[in-house]
Amino acid sequence: MENQKKFYITTPIYYPSSKLHIGHTYCTVATDTMARYKRLQGYKVMFLTGTDEHGLKIEQKAEAAGITPKQFVDNIVEGPRGVKDLWKLMEISYDRFIRTTDDYHVAAIQKIFKKMYDKGDIYKGTYKGKYCTPCESFWTESQLVNGCCPDCGRPVVDAEEEAYFFRLSKYSDRVRDLLVNTDFLQPRSRVNEMVNNFIDKGLEDLCVSRTSFNWGVPVDFDPKHVVYVWIDALFNYTTALGFMNDRYPDSDYETFWPADVHFVGKEIVRFHSIIWPAMLMSMDMPLPKHVFGHGWLLLDGGKMSKSLGNVVDPYILAERYSADALRYFLLRDFPFGTDGNFSNELLINRINMDLANDLGNLLSRTTAMADKYFGGTLPADQAEGPEDAELIAMANELRGKYEADMEKYAFQNALADVFAVIARANKYIDETAPWVLAKDEAKKPRLARVLYNLAETLRLCATLLQPFMPAACDKIFAQLGVTEDSLRSWDSAAAFGAMPAACTLHKGENIFPRIDAKKELAELEAMEAAQKAAAQAALSDAEKAGQPKTEAAPVEIADHEPEITFDDFMKSELRVGEIRACEAMKESKKLLHLTVFDGERERCILSGIAKWYKPEDLIGKKVAIVANLAPRPMMKGKYVSEGMIVAADTPDGGCIIPFFPDEATTGSRIH
Ligand code: MSP
Repeated sequence: MENQKKFYITTPIYYPSSKLHIGHTYCTVATDTMARYKRLQGYKVMFLTGTDEHGLKIEQKAEAAGITPKQFVDNIVEGPRGVKDLWKLMEISYDRFIRTTDDYHVAAIQKIFKKMYDKGDIYKGTYKGKYCTPCESFWTESQLVNGCCPDCGRPVVDAEEEAYFFRLSKYSDRVRDLLVNTDFLQPRSRVNEMVNNFIDKGLEDLCVSRTSFNWGVPVDFDPKHVVYVWIDALFNYTTALGFMNDRYPDSDYETFWPADVHFVGKEIVRFHSIIWPAMLMSMDMPLPKHVFGHGWLLLDGGKMSKSLGNVVDPYILAERYSADALRYFLLRDFPFGTDGNFSNELLINRINMDLANDLGNLLSRTTAMADKYFGGTLPADQAEGPEDAELIAMANELRGKYEADMEKYAFQNALADVFAVIARANKYIDETAPWVLAKDEAKKPRLARVLYNLAETLRLCATLLQPFMPAACDKIFAQLGVTEDSLRSWDSAAAFGAMPAACTLHKGENIFPRIDAKKELAELEAMEAAQKAAAQAALSDAEKAGQPKTEAAPVEIADHEPEITFDDFMKSELRVGEIRACEAMKESKKLLHLTVFDGERERCILSGIAKWYKPEDLIGKKVAIVANLAPRPMMKGKYVSEGMIVAADTPDGGCIIPFFPDEATTGSRIH
């Protein structure tokens, strides 16, 4: 197998800061499909995925949960319904799974960092800049959008620290050349974005170490620094092949590096198409052949986010409708390069239309007729007819079209090609009317050939559908009586007629049962509402940041107020307010600047809660506000705070804000 062609493909390594959602599943399913397609073509494939486990965010989340960062990530990666369980459920056939906390990776990152340092490409300096905590990214002033992180739109904070820098600027011209003059970055539309927004604005040297937190790979020659998570993360693609470590043989690196393609989401294209090649250039390592930046799955046109509580749980969908149906939908409905709007309705319609109707019916009609008219085994005596040529030609051309699309990662088109043939086969049933042929004994050879052609068409289609729906295709082959691998191979997918004429079909279970859309949509909606409520409850737990999950200690109430009447109480106008925006303030470390909608208008409220709440944890939340508090000028009159957020004191001088469930009407009065 020395001359066997090689293919190395990767997913991004996911942050195990919370459970993965349908967006992460989308990218992994696409990568898996590509890996399976290449295996089908006879390539020796290395498919790598994993988790990116270091960084401030994970450190903070673990602290909030009262456990160590390692315990926190272990639970999300290896625990029940964690990352690995999800990939198993979704039939993800990865060859290797890397965790950046793996010893071999940590040691290799230290060596890599040192190598770039020794070369002079990493040097020590002072970092002053804007930092987006959730994205773990530093930004220059010019890159900010409305003063916020250009990736996630959240507020950034001023940061200053002694740090190591990578000479990104040195590689600017070479990276520009790579992007502009080669097909390294795909789709092509992403090239302009990178060149105009980043390279041509001037690449500054990149800050590649942190001293403000500990949860990372220590710089071994200066241990108060930890390596910037993106260096730690990007080199996973090579350490997982044994580069600079002994966990895997060097031959893996020699065989598979450079990668054929990294599939990554659009917001991390910058890291993969600028920083990654520049660091590889510094290390004198070959560059990956391609980086493909795919679009996002959106929900109601916006981003899915755990803190908004609007993530779609792939577990629920795969368990209800099968992993294969979900995989099919993800790659059939959304063009891989652009954003797509996810909805349960689209999912159910797609399953019903394509899988239950077109494919499912073709299979069940074909096997049922073979059973009914021939007891399952077709006679070898078969007669061609005028309707055959078009179907056979189309089926034989399918593999070529499919291959052209798959090579461009155009999964949607490859599936459309297959389903065009399936639709043609259904039409062929109408044209040949087997039930009429069956009435005439003399036409039995013709009937046999019609059923054979249908079975062959199904075999070809199922062969090409294997990378998309592996388990369902196994079932289809079982019903078609295909037991030999040679009849589900890449070669046989362009060889109509390879199956012996006297084949035996088995009528079996309905592989894709039709879904009662109305009932399912109602049930999914109810489940999602419940999940959202649970997510919110969990979030408010997490928001008791830094406090272990123990029962709150009883407080001694020493600050009783004199008794008041009900009317006195009613003078306080408490209302449900919705936090529409929230930012840290450069003028004060204690205050957050909130924009709160009170049902009529948006008001500015400055609240001294910055120590306990991060802005991104509050946006979208419904809280109790004191709406008739006299407006109060603050910061020498620069701001006027028009209300107060209701919060409970904690014994250590902190505070906890109670949140209303989403159903609470914004602006309604609280009594
Ligand atoms: N850890 C980094 C990647 C390091 S790779 C060396 C990271 N992790 S992530 O968990 O935040 O995101 C991983 C991938 O999931 C990204 O490619 C991102 O685009 C993708 N997705 C997250 N949400 C998504 C959607 N809603 N839709 C599609 N993909 C999205 O970034």
